[in-house]
Amino acid sequence: MKSIYDSRVWPQLEDHARALRSEGLTLANLFEQDPDRARIHAMEAAGLYLNHSRHHLDSRAMELLLMLPDACGLPTAIRDQFNGDAVNRSEQRPALHTALRGYEPACRRDVPEQVGQQLEQMEALCDALEDGSLTAATDHPIQTIVNIGIGGSHLGPALACEALSRFRRPHVQCHFVSNIDPADLHQTLRSLDPRTTLFLIASKSFRTEETLSNARAAWQWLEQQEVPPALIHRHFIAITAQTARAREFGVLSGRILPMHEWTGGRFSLWSAIGLPVAMSIGMAAFRDLLEGAARMDQHFLETPTADNMPVMMALLDIWDRLYLGSDSHAVLPYAQALARLPDYLQQLEMESLGKSVTRDGSPVRGPTGQVVWGSPGTDGQHSFHQFLHQGTQPVPVDFIAILQSTVPHKESAHRRLLAHCLAQGRALMEGRSRDQVMQEMLAAGLDRAEAERLAPHRTIPGNRPSNTLMLTELGPPSLGALLALYEHKVAALGVLWGINTFDQWGVELGKALCGPLAAALEHGSTEALDPVSRELVHRSRERADRIDRDDG
Ligand code: F6P
Repeated sequence: MKSIYDSRVWPQLEDHARALRSEGLTLANLFEQDPDRARIHAMEAAGLYLNHSRHHLDSRAMELLLMLPDACGLPTAIRDQFNGDAVNRSEQRPALHTALRGYEPACRRDVPEQVGQQLEQMEALCDALEDGSLTAATDHPIQTIVNIGIGGSHLGPALACEALSRFRRPHVQCHFVSNIDPADLHQTLRSLDPRTTLFLIASKSFRTEETLSNARAAWQWLEQQEVPPALIHRHFIAITAQTARAREFGVLSGRILPMHEWTGGRFSLWSAIGLPVAMSIGMAAFRDLLEGAARMDQHFLETPTADNMPVMMALLDIWDRLYLGSDSHAVLPYAQALARLPDYLQQLEMESLGKSVTRDGSPVRGPTGQVVWGSPGTDGQHSFHQFLHQGTQPVPVDFIAILQSTVPHKESAHRRLLAHCLAQGRALMEGRSRDQVMQEMLAAGLDRAEAERLAPHRTIPGNRPSNTLMLTELGPPSLGALLALYEHKVAALGVLWGINTFDQWGVELGKALCGPLAAALEHGSTEALDPVSRELVHRSRERADRIDRDDG
């Protein structure tokens, strides 16, 4: 399969982008030429609405872009992925998160049964939690869940629990601990009652240092709280693909929920890794989350390119990179409930697409994954939006709006939130010309010399692209569809750029180097280190010695 950079379409697209740039194409021109543009450049899928009319795309650019998926074999690659082909070639694994939402992969007939068993186990635990029969060392019903996990074993469940908090069952509180910094666990445990607390150790590999260190610290905390040592294991459930390691840690076999190698960490929310979500909102609502994602799966698999939302979003990313040279993308959810979405998407997109070689190991011939960042509106408006409006580097934005308030009886306040969201997209596109700002200042009584001095500072270039995604309301199905939309956009980009979306070898080196550095910090053995690390270790040890002396 070819990447876009090897396809015959790419040079044509490059030429066309160059021509449009030299013409000085503006978004305003495009809307003048086609008064229907806002309506036409929009689509719906799985209950989501996307308006993508604010990109510098004329009809020829769109025509060329729409040739890329076929030129790169995207439809076949997607079917192969859904059907269980080992699309993660560097690890020889399939990526079957879609099977967790009910798609039956043709090459892996064993998978649906595994999915069914996983869901049944989750359901039994949720039922026991609900009826109070889920207990730990004492007869007290469990009321607090602490999920210990990191990366994909943390970000998805944490996002979903927060986003769906209004569906939360009244008797259960969920907390998330991920950082190896002991402060994270310490702060969480401060207010908890050990009798009613259950820890979920979420780790596909059951090898991740942060997770194991926090799980051991949680075990010690229970010991300090005088839970009888022989009963401590009752406070733990493990979710892992490495059940033997979980047993070795001390988790009872009956309390281990298996994951499977075909579930990638950052795509694992839909697996038993979603247990804190299911426990928090109930199993029926968790199934609705899966159902919403399944609707997006079907759309992605069956819809022709021009109307395919994930594919269109992937193509727009490619175009913005080519046309504007943008290398970052902001995601701005206008919903406090989606505050964690940018963090979640950072792992999903940057761990998947931060690659410099193609699937066969040769260097990529053009740019691949970009920086993803953002925070909820309206907070960002009072910090980094200045950069979006007047910075030298245009940053394409995804605005995400929810039409119905997530808080009861707050519709009028919610309308203001929505108005801010719409205003930002409009401001990015229209900007404020020098003439406009001059007129405004003169009308306000400023003398001409002063107005001319200020005009460059007040002028806003505009002509900056954005997508607007709208959800009617934020609930399990729409959240499922939204997350699946981004998953599929990422998968499509991986195919189009010719890279492996599903591995993450880059994160391994830092883990491997941590051992010698930890030893150096402890024992001062710095000979094998590089000069900067040596210097930093000496400094850290000197400081630690000083603190010890002062304490002594
Ligand atoms: O280090 C990166 C990573 O491997 C992610 O891909 C993964 O989601 C995370 O660590 C956690 O891994 P595990 O679930 O095996 O603890």
